Amino acid sequence: MIQRELDELLNRMTQEEKLAQVFQLAACCYEDDFEPDFTGPMREIEVNDTLRKTAGTVIGALEPEEMLKLQKLCASGPNRIPALFMLDVIHGFRTIFPIPLGLACSWDPELMGRTCRIAAKEARASGIHATFAPMVDLVRDSRWGRVMESTGEDPYLNAEFAKAAVKGFQGRGVGEKDSLASCVKHFAAYGAVESGREYNTTDMSRGMLRDVYLDSYRAAVDAGCRLVMTAFNIVERVPATCNKWLLDTVLRKEWGFDGVVITDWNSMNELIAHSVAEDGGEAAQKALEAGVDIDMMSGHYLFDLGRRIEENSSLQPLLDQAVMRILKLKNEMGLFEEPTRGTDPELAGRLILCEEHRATALEAAHKSMVLLKNEKVLPLKAGCKVTIAGTMAGQRNLLGGWSFMGNPEDGISLIEALGSAGADLFIPESDFTDIEEVCRLAEKSEVTVLACGEPVEETAEANSKTCLRLKDRDLALLRALKKQGSKVVLLVLAGRALVLSDAEPLCDAVLQAWFPGTEAGRAIADVLFGAAQPEGKLTISFPREEGQLPLYYNSFRTGRPQLPEKKEEIYVSHYIDCPNEPLYPFGFGLSYTSYAYSDLKLSAKKVHPEETLRVSVKVKNTGERAGREIVQMYLCDPCGSVVRPVKQLRGYTSLELCPGEEKEAVFIITEEDLMFWDNEECRRVEPGRFIVMAGPDSERLMKDEFVYAV
Ligand code: BGC
Repeated sequence: MIQRELDELLNRMTQEEKLAQVFQLAACCYEDDFEPDFTGPMREIEVNDTLRKTAGTVIGALEPEEMLKLQKLCASGPNRIPALFMLDVIHGFRTIFPIPLGLACSWDPELMGRTCRIAAKEARASGIHATFAPMVDLVRDSRWGRVMESTGEDPYLNAEFAKAAVKGFQGRGVGEKDSLASCVKHFAAYGAVESGREYNTTDMSRGMLRDVYLDSYRAAVDAGCRLVMTAFNIVERVPATCNKWLLDTVLRKEWGFDGVVITDWNSMNELIAHSVAEDGGEAAQKALEAGVDIDMMSGHYLFDLGRRIEENSSLQPLLDQAVMRILKLKNEMGLFEEPTRGTDPELAGRLILCEEHRATALEAAHKSMVLLKNEKVLPLKAGCKVTIAGTMAGQRNLLGGWSFMGNPEDGISLIEALGSAGADLFIPESDFTDIEEVCRLAEKSEVTVLACGEPVEETAEANSKTCLRLKDRDLALLRALKKQGSKVVLLVLAGRALVLSDAEPLCDAVLQAWFPGTEAGRAIADVLFGAAQPEGKLTISFPREEGQLPLYYNSFRTGRPQLPEKKEEIYVSHYIDCPNEPLYPFGFGLSYTSYAYSDLKLSAKKVHPEETLRVSVKVKNTGERAGREIVQMYLCDPCGSVVRPVKQLRGYTSLELCPGEEKEAVFIITEEDLMFWDNEECRRVEPGRFIVMAGPDSERLMKDEFVYAV
């Protein structure tokens, strides 16, 4: 349709239809035996056929054939407006990829893009139009269960992944039959919830918001994402869901976002609990005025906005504007001409879990794993006698949270996989954590793989924790195994950075495998036996103690830093019972080979506006196996008008190196890389010294410096 036709359509719509357009219904409401089971005001909802036909958007998924029927029903309403079907397609649809935090450890946005492309193809053919992804919230605290959905603690890397995910989901554009419209979330700063407690408050300076937290959302918007979801939290004391500065001044005016803004689940209603609205009517008005187009699951637009507009007609254009944005998206997706466009149950059947998708899931799972310790025990040799034990050893579900359509049975189990990889397996008969039996088996075997961590159910939404240590049963096993001198490989399956400081000294190797997805079993076995090499590097710092949280590498300088050469000083910023440093820093990860860094070189010692600087460092594979090394480059502005982080990632690259081979990693620093947001909300660069650092992780770095002069 052309704009005139959309305008005419809007004019034809009754107020009821408009209010239904900005409302979202759950897919289950279309099922014959539907029994309402909602929270909040949605409990009152009466789902009739008119609402089913006129609801603007639908959340959830049914079988593809059902989705076809459903769309036909929606498009048979008075003005034949098709519905948009939305779902959380977070790390795969049916073929499940590693959780985003794991995938991020590949430092490979291209791979992220490919996984999102595949997810889009499977989901779209199954009747879904839009995904509530990517979640690009920056996280510095693993107590937050949702850290698994994020790509970690770094603004630069998060922005790269955000861009890649949006492009992957949307493909050549949302008009294509195999694309999903991408909804970036949770705008903004949801990853900063205090104490890592879900749904908690956030508060930070605008400088911090702009310099650290907003970049990834901005990157998603620049990449063309068609939707933005508001966060549950407050930003500068105003809930994001009615925050005009955020949704209008920044998002629409400054960033030029012209798509659809949707609330998070019931977050419009939560404006009342947040204490900024007296009732549903006021909540709806405030959200509308701030620029929210769709109400997810509070019902206030549908139930209360009409009355509010009768009392205050100046709100009508805002409702019309919201409706128009939704119609435009549907139009862009070609749904007016062809409401069932893209939905193809037969194609879905062919695509889902097809060879190519599985191969990408396996590749992604390999690349997500991070080797944190290896005392010459990995890789295991074919035929090696292996005891498998630990609380996670028998866990069938290694898909990770937010994988609604995934099925753990789609891949082989860890035990099956270890068997097929050539292990001579010793499996406890009674219980994977029975100390006596496990120790007995371990005595007869060469190594014990202790699969530990946390079950899937302890991660994702509403799963904040204060204890991030391994389970007592795993630690007890570990102590017993250590005591009898058995070699132990700790296989950590988790959705967050756990506290591994108790376990680390007791084992010989630590493989952080996250939740690897459909191909979990095979991928883990490949890595343990060396058919694939662990090459990932952490995108989140691993604390030694929960008490260090929040913990992140790019912290601000303090007036009393603890200097490495003066650790005994008392009146400096430190703990008396724990080092300041993480157990494993951001960027850290080993492999089955080793690398040596040398010759950090800068192309100039002075740069001027608009000039670039070439930074290079030599990396040599000093081990016996070919590998891919992720080389990192950091910058620091050591003196300026505001305090700046001790270092900030500003570049990374991967080098493929054969044994003995040496290559140069090259980074180009531009003026943009030197910029920051000042307290007048101006993004600029200040003349002076800059320190360049390059190395294998955020701690082991070579340094040099240059001057930026105007
Ligand atoms: C979550 C969102 C999610 C939505 C819909 C909310 O509870 O916070 O991330 O997209 O539910 O499932």
